Amino acid sequence: MILVFIGSPGAGKGTQCEQLSRHLSIPHLSTGEILRKAKADGTPIGKKIAAVLDCGELVSDELITKIVDERTLNPDCKNGFLLDGFPRTIPQADLLGEMLSRRNQQLSGVVYLRVPREEVFERLTQRYKEMETPRPEDHPDAIPKRFEVFAKKTEPLLDYYIERELLHRVDGTGTPQNVFERVLNIVSMLGV
Ligand code: AP5
Ligand code: MG
Repeated sequence: MILVFIGSPGAGKGTQCEQLSRHLSIPHLSTGEILRKAKADGTPIGKKIAAVLDCGELVSDELITKIVDERTLNPDCKNGFLLDGFPRTIPQADLLGEMLSRRNQQLSGVVYLRVPREEVFERLTQRYKEMETPRPEDHPDAIPKRFEVFAKKTEPLLDYYIERELLHRVDGTGTPQNVFERVLNIVSMLGV
């Protein structure tokens, strides 16, 4: 099972993937987490991308695709994996398709978590207040930029995956458990 999770900033991709990863015993690969770790560790890549991450812009398609390509070759991915936050642009989706077909694999489905903008704004500002070391991009002044990037670069992926009959819309409102039940309905429909 190879599933992609798409959703605006704060839609609950990480929250849902974490739970689904335990449920299916397949890894949860969050490109945001991988990049934040590189930044925190001060690796050469981390230093290069720090400013991009903090302002909510996207890192380059080449860099992120290389990271995903390498990470998914890890043996823990042999039974599948959950992609949280990748692909995020049409070129990334094309590169993912090429990578999977090179390996004779295919995408099982794409889950699109839908949450109204006012609600995700509230979730992110809440997280900014609560975290000991807040994510700079959760600052209320940085959030609009992330929405803008999502609308411009990522939303076109919805039509891209509708055309390929892979898109499944999930209402991302309600409690995390409510949302998880909806996600599980999709997963069982896909045959796992
Ligand atoms: P990334 O880490 O993916 O950030 P994001 O998409 O902006 O979204 P979040 O992680 O903030 O939200 P989420 O949807 O995971 O929700 P979560 O479960 O945390 O990416 C960060 C950056 O990395 C990007 O801006 C970019 O710079 C770079 N990057 C990453 N991937 C890239 C790519 N492919 N290409 C280029 N650049 C890339 O939940 C949010 C909050 O809400 C939490 O506090 C949570 O507890 C709460 N919550 C969750 N569910 C619910 C619920 N049902 N009800 C109430 N609260 C809830
Ligand atoms: Mg996340």
